[in-house]
Amino acid sequence: MTRVFSGVKPTGHLTLGNYLGAVRRWAQVDQYRSDALFCVVDLHALTVDHDPGRVLRLSRQAATLLLAAGLDPEQCTVFVQSHVDEHARLSYLLECVANDGEMRRMIQYKEKSARERERGGSVRLSLLTYPVLMAADILAYAADEVPVGDDQTQHVELVRDLAVRFNQRYGHTFVVPRATRPKVAARVMDLQQPMSKMGKSHESAAGIVYLLDEPDVVRKKIMRAVTDSGQEVVYDPENKPGISNLLEILAACEAVQNSGAQSGNPEALSGVHTTYGALKKDTADAVVELLRPVQQRHKELMADPAYVEGVLRRGAEKARAMARPTVDAAYRTIGLLPPA
Ligand code: TYM
Repeated sequence: MTRVFSGVKPTGHLTLGNYLGAVRRWAQVDQYRSDALFCVVDLHALTVDHDPGRVLRLSRQAATLLLAAGLDPEQCTVFVQSHVDEHARLSYLLECVANDGEMRRMIQYKEKSARERERGGSVRLSLLTYPVLMAADILAYAADEVPVGDDQTQHVELVRDLAVRFNQRYGHTFVVPRATRPKVAARVMDLQQPMSKMGKSHESAAGIVYLLDEPDVVRKKIMRAVTDSGQEVVYDPENKPGISNLLEILAACEAVQNSGAQSGNPEALSGVHTTYGALKKDTADAVVELLRPVQQRHKELMADPAYVEGVLRRGAEKARAMARPTVDAAYRTIGLLPPA
């Protein structure tokens, strides 16, 4: 059976981008067709300046939202990264396989470290080594597939390189995974800056729809989305990034509402709306409806924290048992003396 691993980082409230690019697909497709693990990757949230209390709250919220979005603990394993030591254990070995040059070439490292320096802050070493920990997350479970949004493609390529290099140098140990992406909404853009990805840790929230935004907030954000010159409602990401982003979001929402399939097609929606305003209104309605059941379920789960804790505890036990043999094998293969 195909093994799937993916994760979400609790550095901010989960966004529509996280949902359309990743989480919805995990819930609708991946957990049913594979042996799947989904993880709140909290150690990754420590790679930038962080407030301990906030990371803790966001980790709990992210786990609750994964369940609210439809991850079913009977179908898949949901857990928190720091509850399973194997991630950090394997990460060190992979640091001994990775080169600093390839780490410095990672786009996210370049962007985030530049932003940090602009603010006058220092760059944590863990920001540079982040993709190695991500490799450990995936390789520890011998995952074949990693369902992610577009922005993680480069990281998963690096994971593949590290797996191949380790296997060639020391003997076959790791499955070489591949990224899978949604057909639509693989990169949801910021509503105020449609040339940038909608990211959960951006400074201004005006262009970001959060999964827990109230319906009137969602409507306001979408109705105020930056649009492009001209009046034609056509899908043309290069020349009409704002409108194309809305079409992509609308197509993704329709895909879920009509069939549950991954099929929404933004190009097919070109020309359906006669004004930008009409497109915004339809998109706002669709997003509000898309989020409604997730928000409702989230509210119910918030009232039952013991249930969520139980899911995470059992998830961590299962995950540990799955990761241990591969990580132990990597320790032996690389030449470390096994404990007596
Ligand atoms: P993170 O927390 O930034 O995002 C979680 C998932 O959401 C996707 N995503 C988006 N998709 C479409 N449009 C967007 N605007 C958008 N923003 C985010 C991301 O591609 C991702 O799939 N490095 C990862 C976390 C991670 C991980 C892993 C993922 C750590 N270890 C192992 C997979 C496997 C990250 O920062 O995701």
